[in-house]
Amino acid sequence: MTETLDIKITQTPTSRLAETDFNNLPFGKVFSDHMLTADYEDGEWKNFEILPYGPIELSPAISALHYGQAFFEGIKAYKHADGKVSIFRPDKNAIRFNKSADRLCMPQLPEDIFIQSIAALVDIDRDWIPGKANHALYIRPFMFATDPFLGVTPSANYKYIVLIGPVGPYFSKPLRVKIETHYTRAAEGGMGYAKAAGNYGSSMLPARKAAEEGFDQLIWTDAKEHKYIEEMGAANAMFLLDGKLITAETKDTILDGVTRDTVIALAKDWGITVEERKVSVAELIEGAKNGKLTDAFGAGTAATIASVASISYNDEEYFLSDPQTREFSKKVLATLDDIKYGRSEDAHGWNYMV
Ligand code: PLP
Ligand code: COI
Repeated sequence: MTETLDIKITQTPTSRLAETDFNNLPFGKVFSDHMLTADYEDGEWKNFEILPYGPIELSPAISALHYGQAFFEGIKAYKHADGKVSIFRPDKNAIRFNKSADRLCMPQLPEDIFIQSIAALVDIDRDWIPGKANHALYIRPFMFATDPFLGVTPSANYKYIVLIGPVGPYFSKPLRVKIETHYTRAAEGGMGYAKAAGNYGSSMLPARKAAEEGFDQLIWTDAKEHKYIEEMGAANAMFLLDGKLITAETKDTILDGVTRDTVIALAKDWGITVEERKVSVAELIEGAKNGKLTDAFGAGTAATIASVASISYNDEEYFLSDPQTREFSKKVLATLDDIKYGRSEDAHGWNYMV
C-alpha cells in the first residue's frame, strides 16, 4: 500500500435509498447515491472525488465516443449476516484493469488506488448492499478517453469513474446457448483479453440474432476454424466432461475471468482434475450425446454460476441433465456463496473487507 488516497467527498443531501425497491432489482438499472470520479491530466491521476450519482458534462468530440478508447470492470460486494462488508477479489480486477488499459494505450491506475477508491465508495454507500441471498452490490469501474480531438491517436486525458448499485441475479433461468460458427468475438492479436467496451458492442448483433432464434447466450468459438470453444457472452464457459473440469486456456482472445480462476481453485481443492486447454466443439457434442458431459455453466461476476440447459450446434439442440441434479456446479455456487457472504472460512483470502 502506498499512502492513503485523498478523496474529496460531497454527500448527497437527498438519499434515494428509502424509495428504492430492493425486491425488484433488475441488473444494472439501479444506482446508489454516490459515484467516484477522477481525472488523468498532465500525466497523473488527480481530482479523486465522491459525489452524488448523476450526469456528467463531456465534449461530444471525446475520442472514447469516436474510437472506443474505453473499458470497464465488474466486481461485487457482499453484506455478511453480522453487517460486515466484503468485496470479492478486487486485486484480480485491479490487475486486469491495467491489462485492458495497456491494450488500449490508456494510462495505468495503481492497483492500490483502484482498490482504495472502490472501497471508499462502497463504504459510503454500504447501506445500499442488499442483504438477500443471490443479491449483491455490483461495482462498475471504467475508464475512457476525454480529449476533444478527432485524430486517431491515444488521448492525453482520461476519466476514471466507479458506479455501484444493488443487483439481483443476472440470469433468471438455465441458459439455452448456441455455439456461434459465423461471427467472431475476438481474433488472435486482437483485444479479446481486454474488457474493452468495443468487444461488447461488436457482440450485440450476433447476440440479437441468437436471441431471435430463442437462445439466451452465445458460446464463441475460435476465429480461424470455429472448432474450439472460447467463452460465453458475459462469462467464461466451463464444463465437467468425464469427471474433469475443462475450460479454454486463457490467451489473447479470452477474458481471464476472476470467477473462472476461483472455480478452478475450488476444483483443485476438491481433488478434481482441471484441464485448461483447447476445448473442441466436437468433444462437447460427443459428451452431450453419450452422457459424459455432466455439467456446463458460465462463470462470471454478474452471471455467477449460470447453468447451461442446452447447447445448440448446427441447428441441433442437445439438452443436458437437469441443472438441479448437477453436483459440481451446485457445490461451487454454494461454496462460493458461503465464502462471499461470510458464512464459511475464507481460506484463500478472497474477501477484501471494507
Ligand atoms: N468473459 C466475458 C466476455 C465477460 O464479460 C465476463 C464478465 O466479466 C467474463 C468472461 C467473466 O469474468 P469475471 O469472472 O472476471 O467477471
Ligand atoms: C461482469 O460480470 O461483471 C460483466 O462484466 C458482465 C457485464 C458485461 C454485464
